[in-house]
Amino acid sequence: MSEKTSFNQNKNLLLGVTGGIAAYKCADLVRRLKERGFNVRVVMTPGASEFITPMTLQAVSGHPVHQDIFDQAMEAAMGHIELAKWADLLLIAPATANTIAKIVHGKADNLLTTIVLASKAPLMIAPAMNQQMWANSVTQSNIEKLSHSGVTVLGPGAGEQACGDIGAGRMLEPLDIAQQVQSIAYGDKPLTGKKVLITAGPTVEAIDPVRFISNHSSGKMGYAIAKAAKIAGAEVHLISGPVSIGEPFGVQVTRVTSAAQMFDAVKNSVEGVDIFVGCAAVADYSPVEVSCQKIKKNDEEMCLLLKRNPDILAWVANRAERPYVVGFAAESQSLKFYANKKLEKKKLDMICANDICCEGLGFNSEDNQLLLLDKSGEEKLLNVASKEVLAQQIIEQIAMKLNEA
Ligand code: CTP
Repeated sequence: MSEKTSFNQNKNLLLGVTGGIAAYKCADLVRRLKERGFNVRVVMTPGASEFITPMTLQAVSGHPVHQDIFDQAMEAAMGHIELAKWADLLLIAPATANTIAKIVHGKADNLLTTIVLASKAPLMIAPAMNQQMWANSVTQSNIEKLSHSGVTVLGPGAGEQACGDIGAGRMLEPLDIAQQVQSIAYGDKPLTGKKVLITAGPTVEAIDPVRFISNHSSGKMGYAIAKAAKIAGAEVHLISGPVSIGEPFGVQVTRVTSAAQMFDAVKNSVEGVDIFVGCAAVADYSPVEVSCQKIKKNDEEMCLLLKRNPDILAWVANRAERPYVVGFAAESQSLKFYANKKLEKKKLDMICANDICCEGLGFNSEDNQLLLLDKSGEEKLLNVASKEVLAQQIIEQIAMKLNEA
């Protein structure tokens, strides 16, 4: 059992399960939380049992599942006030838009919302809903209100949804939730007082009003690093190329399109920064001339003259007053060799290298595998995991290196 696991021993976590399709993942979530040493009890809203049975959650948690505020037997065994007092931590996963709205308004119309109102324990929620419901301004304003009142919002993730839509609103994976709960609730905040600047996503270089040069970067890794840095206590500024991911809460986001704009934004923000993470897939070249009219097809062949874009990462690393600088390398061969070359050439402190030839990993996918190389020659392999989990490991590694310095 790891040190952290034993640290959580005897911490009481009340898991509220609400009525969303992601509720089916809660059996795994309970298991992941228990693995980390939490005592888990489950409360279900009436809608939740449409998606997972109380019997399943009773079996994995090892305790009766609480559902009804008017259940005399349950109330006699452990009433709602007792449950509210028992909990060291409340986690609602999945948290539907409806339950989120009820909590914002202090409603107590079922056992779960009553406990939330009656408990002094810190509250965390893992929203899960259709992307349009998540994007709805009412939901966004509810989330903002909860965040401001100290509720921790985990996710949501983005991707394909049960209804077939694509976008933000998926519940984070159980492992990611369990890790975040652990680090937020009990972990120290190793980047407290630190300023972190991150670039993420692709850049888009215009050719004419309708055409451009860009790449497949989804921005997921950079956004996950921003979230992880925020969780670790840092003040985070994310400079992002065009992506379709929701902004991480509590993180300042500057949106840009081209490499030149990203460079300007970095130049304007780098002062006083302690850590710079260059995660963006900056286009290496952009057209020398951008045609203001749509280019017509005239000849059989055409030449597009491109010029090198400034290397933002190298510029930051070569400043006199430089932060701790972390870069990324996506390689299709000789991963370590080329990553080390970039580390040296750009004068980086750390480089996170990934092999783009591994199927299902890297660009535009949920998971990745990274080799972290340090300027001192130290290396650390981060095994295949979700980008959220890898981001947390990268941040832990950066924090460790800063402490050593
Ligand atoms: N980077 C940057 N500005 C650029 C180009 C890259 O800040 N104009 C950063 C990226 O954010 C990433 C790292 O540099 O952290 C990637 O290095 P790079 O040499 O661009 O890698 P590749 O694009 O893979 O280079 P090559 O095509 O030469 O392998």
